[in-house]
Amino acid sequence: MPADRPARPLDLSALLAARGAERYELQAKYLNPQLPRMLHTIGFDKYYERAEGPYFYDADGNSYLDMLAGFGIFALGRHHPVVRDALHQVIDLDLPDLTRFDCSPLPGLLAEQLLSHTPGLDRVFFGNSGTEAVETALKFARCATGKSRVLYCDHAFHGLTAGSLSVNGEAGFRKGFGPLLPDSSIPLGDLGALAKELRRGDVAALIVEPIQGKGVNAVPTGWLRAAQELLHEHKALLICDEVQTGIGRTGDFFAYQHEEGVLPDLVCAAKALSGGYVPIGATLGKGWIFDKVYSSMDRVLVHSASFGSNAQAMAAGLATLQVMRDEQVVENARRVGDLFRERLAALVEKYELLADVRGRGLMIGIEFGRPRSLKLRTGWTALQAARKGLFAQMVVVPLLQRHRILTQVSGDHLEVIKLIPPLIITEREVDRFVGAFTEVMDDAHRGSGLMWDFGRTLVKQAVGSK
Ligand SMILES: Cc1ncc(COP(=O)(O)O)c(C=O)c1O
Repeated sequence: MPADRPARPLDLSALLAARGAERYELQAKYLNPQLPRMLHTIGFDKYYERAEGPYFYDADGNSYLDMLAGFGIFALGRHHPVVRDALHQVIDLDLPDLTRFDCSPLPGLLAEQLLSHTPGLDRVFFGNSGTEAVETALKFARCATGKSRVLYCDHAFHGLTAGSLSVNGEAGFRKGFGPLLPDSSIPLGDLGALAKELRRGDVAALIVEPIQGKGVNAVPTGWLRAAQELLHEHKALLICDEVQTGIGRTGDFFAYQHEEGVLPDLVCAAKALSGGYVPIGATLGKGWIFDKVYSSMDRVLVHSASFGSNAQAMAAGLATLQVMRDEQVVENARRVGDLFRERLAALVEKYELLADVRGRGLMIGIEFGRPRSLKLRTGWTALQAARKGLFAQMVVVPLLQRHRILTQVSGDHLEVIKLIPPLIITEREVDRFVGAFTEVMDDAHRGSGLMWDFGRTLVKQAVGSK
């Protein structure tokens, strides 16, 4: 023992009780100061004390409904007892994890489980995040095809490391980080544009989210299959990024499975795969692609990650998939998602500011649009002139402030709210959301009052920051 006294235990509860109230100051001083600034501005600077299932609780015991699931990772809600128990077991078993020069059974078992959901795919690479799953797919596609360029869709989001940023369809994310890889974007659903790029002969792959996270826009029906055929004719690969849509979110295990005859060459997964507890990423693919990458013994570590396949992530993944089967979570996402969208779509007729409700399973987009009546149009036009997306923000804020429901605007400059709740929600949570949303819409359609006062504050801030 290096010191003559053993290390003291870390009393986390005492630490949080003593310093928890400093959370926003600590963030501002040592991490990203823009985060607390933004949270203070929109009044989202809450002190949540604990979380369970689809709810957070504050110190007074008030419940907050989570329609965000940590950007989609808590598919099983917070603290699912089966996942939590699996993690306790990993720690208590004193496993010889990550020795690196043996083969742990856990990654093999999780890969076996995952691949049982994806007939036609043979192998898995485990990393630690969504962006790493994408980086892996980009590298594997280049290596397998011997070509370099990867196509992506306008408005795509695939992560924020340098490779995945090169296939990001939003200028705002890329600004200041170039030069990136010379990849090219095509409009979502445009076969002609895809064919034109493929004719140049240098395309390794197309990467696509079956339903884009930004704006909740699905690829048109039939497009994935047509794109797959075109890509294969040109010896290029189809990569489906299912980091957000995968593991049951859209009511299928993977969203590409919604359409018959689609079999991507590579599939990226992450987020929900470990039940939200432990970082994880997975790239699933066809055997021949992996054979090209790991083509000889001296290439055994040509693509690897120090923490990849760690026991906590693997055990959490196994527990998550078991819960998904036992509790029929994918079926629940489909059934409750259908009901949810039906209830919301019925409001489109009633509210002129509500333009569209779309999505699949429990990935739902609510889009606002230009009202017909003069009374509302003035306020709407002022918001649009200051910055697109302010009306959606005007809805998100009272949903949290007055109704204690956490949602998000689905990307900058979009009048779309995205709902990606835990997949275990029931009709009760749908009722709570629809009731609150109806009240917020009623307020908005009065054309005056607190909500529009807040809108005017947002306009002033937007104009001030231009
Ligand atoms: C479709 C998609 N791909 C990749 C990523 C990146 O995942 P991560 O944040 O785990 O790196 C995200 C994150 O939101 C995503 O939605």
